[in-house]
Formats: sequence, C-alpha cells, structure tokens
Amino acid sequence: MKDFSGKTVYITGGSSGIGLETARLFASLGGDVVIFARDEERLASAARDIEGHRRSGSQKVHAVHMDVADPESVRTGIEEAIEKAGPPQVAIANAGVGYADLFIDTPHEAFDAVMKTNVYGVRSFVANVLPHMVGAKGTIVIVSSAAGLMGMYGYTTYGTSKYALVGFAECLRAELRTMGMTVTLVCPGEVDTPFVPKEAERLPFESRVVKSFCGRISPSRVAHAIVKGVAGKRFLVIPGVLTNLMFALHRFSNGMLTRYTSDLVVFVLRWYVSKQAARRR
Ligand SMILES: NC(=O)c1ccc[n+]([C@@H]2O[C@H](COP(=O)([O-])OP(=O)(O)OC[C@H]3O[C@@H](n4cnc5c(N)ncnc54)[C@H](OP(=O)(O)O)[C@@H]3O)[C@@H](O)[C@H]2O)c1
Repeated sequence: MKDFSGKTVYITGGSSGIGLETARLFASLGGDVVIFARDEERLASAARDIEGHRRSGSQKVHAVHMDVADPESVRTGIEEAIEKAGPPQVAIANAGVGYADLFIDTPHEAFDAVMKTNVYGVRSFVANVLPHMVGAKGTIVIVSSAAGLMGMYGYTTYGTSKYALVGFAECLRAELRTMGMTVTLVCPGEVDTPFVPKEAERLPFESRVVKSFCGRISPSRVAHAIVKGVAGKRFLVIPGVLTNLMFALHRFSNGMLTRYTSDLVVFVLRWYVSKQAARRR
C-alpha cells in the first residue's frame, strides 16, 4: 500500500468504528493523524490506540474535541488542529449518526438532528478545512452510505442525509478538480461497528431483512477501501462485493430491480407476521 509518511490526515469520528480503523491504517502507513469527536475520554483512548499502530515514534497523533453539528466547534477544532499538526493532505468527513424508523413516526427534531450532524456537519468540516488545503493537491473524503445510493424501507431520514452527501461530493469534485484536488465518496453497506446496535434500537424488522441483502463487512475492509481510493484518486468507493452487486443491479435497471425486490420482501414479511398474529388469536 502507498506510503503516507510526511502526510497529515484529519478524520472526523476518528474515535470509533470506521474512523478509528481508518486512522489506525493511515498511521501504520506512516501518516500523521488528527482525529475529531465529542467524547473526550473515547478520543484520548483512541489516540493512544492509534499511536500503537504508528510505523515510527516521530509520527504525530492528535485528538481534538469537535461537535460537527456545531459550526463554532468545527471552526475552533480546525484552528486547533492546524496549530498542532499543520494543514492536512487528506481530510475525511466521516462522523455521522444513524437513524432508522418510518417517516410517519419520526419527530421533526429527530430528522433535523440527523441533518445537522450528517449533512451540515460535513459542510462545516469541509468549509473550514478546504482553505488550508488549496494548493496542496489534497483529497477530501466524504463518508456517505449505500443508503445514499439506493432508497431503503425505514431509512427516509438517514437516506435523505446520505443522498445529500452524494450530491455534495459530486458537485464538489467538479469544482476541486480545477484546483488539482480530488474527492473520494465512500458508500458502504452495513459495517460491523457500534453504529449497528445503536441503530437497531428503532430499526423496523422489514428494514433489517432488506438491509441484509448487502451483507455486513468489517470496518477494516472499509478502511482499506478508503486508503486505496485516496491513493488511486478514485471518486466512488463502494466497499463490499454484495453492496457493489446490489448497486450494479440498481443502476442497470434504473432502480426497478432493487425497488421491486424490496417491495416484495416487505410485502411477504408483513403478510407472514399478520398471519402468525391471526393464528395466535
Ligand atoms: N456502520 C455502518 O453500518 C455504516 C454503514 C454505512 C455508512 N456508515 C457511516 O460511516 C460513518 C462512521 O460510522 P461508524 O459505523 O464508524 O459509527 P460509530 O462507530 O458509531 O462512530 C461514529 C463516530 O462519529 C463520531 N460522531 C458522532 N456524532 C458526532 C458529532 N456530532 N460530532 C463529532 N463527531 C461525532 C463519534 O464520536 P462521538 O460520539 O464521541 O462524537 C464516533 O467517533 C458515519 O457517517 C455512518 O453514517 C456507517
């Protein structure tokens, strides 16, 4: 894999899951790493963990408190990071929260909170970091989701936020290309991180089944795909064979195959559940 020594990588949400695994990998490839998140204790423990993956003791690892949903926190967080580690060559907008429920049961506040973190959080991070990267031919990585490429039952809120990132990345790519910079858009299916049990608290059972069509992969697999995507200056990175297959079917059929399959699965599941309930009565 590519050598990242002398390069600085910023990662929001670097204290857990995909972000932490990606930070470990960049450190093992020689990079300096700055991670950002809210929980100070988890940040400090993640920074120690990442230090353990460095190739050399001279590589820097910094942890900076940041709430991406708060534009002022993002501004001061980036200022602190620039002061400590200098501007990044790779900036990864990864921090995000899950939310799965039927739209009809979703309070306005819950919808807005997801947008604030997943959409405005990415906007604020990129807006603050970009002026420091111009001229360095760096890369902005946006972590979206397979739910940003294909509509899924129970994902109206989360899917809206992740579709927005696909549009953001598509347009930003075109603009940054003229400055010699690249954008990498990452769209994983389900990844084995603390995100999954948290999301499961409200996940409709139909969504659980539909989601399983894309399988579940490890955060390490996503981290390797991100590093490969950055090194190869690739725009769209979809980690995981099943998610790639689903997206190919989706694109090939103009969405028809995935929509009909999902509708059929949801219909059969609901029919089966109501039949069981009637039998129990
Ligand atoms: N896991 C999946 O199945 C999956 C699939 C596709 C895409 N994704 C996307 O991948 C990204 C990472 O998810 P993950 O699975 O690694 O989740 P995770 O293990 O729950 O990690 C989320 C990270 O984001 C940070 N974070 C959350 N809200 C934040 C905020 N307002 N400000 C700053 N940091 C914040 C968390 O730290 P604090 O809570 O301490 O702030 C944590 O470090 C997310 O954007 C998610 O939507 C995940």
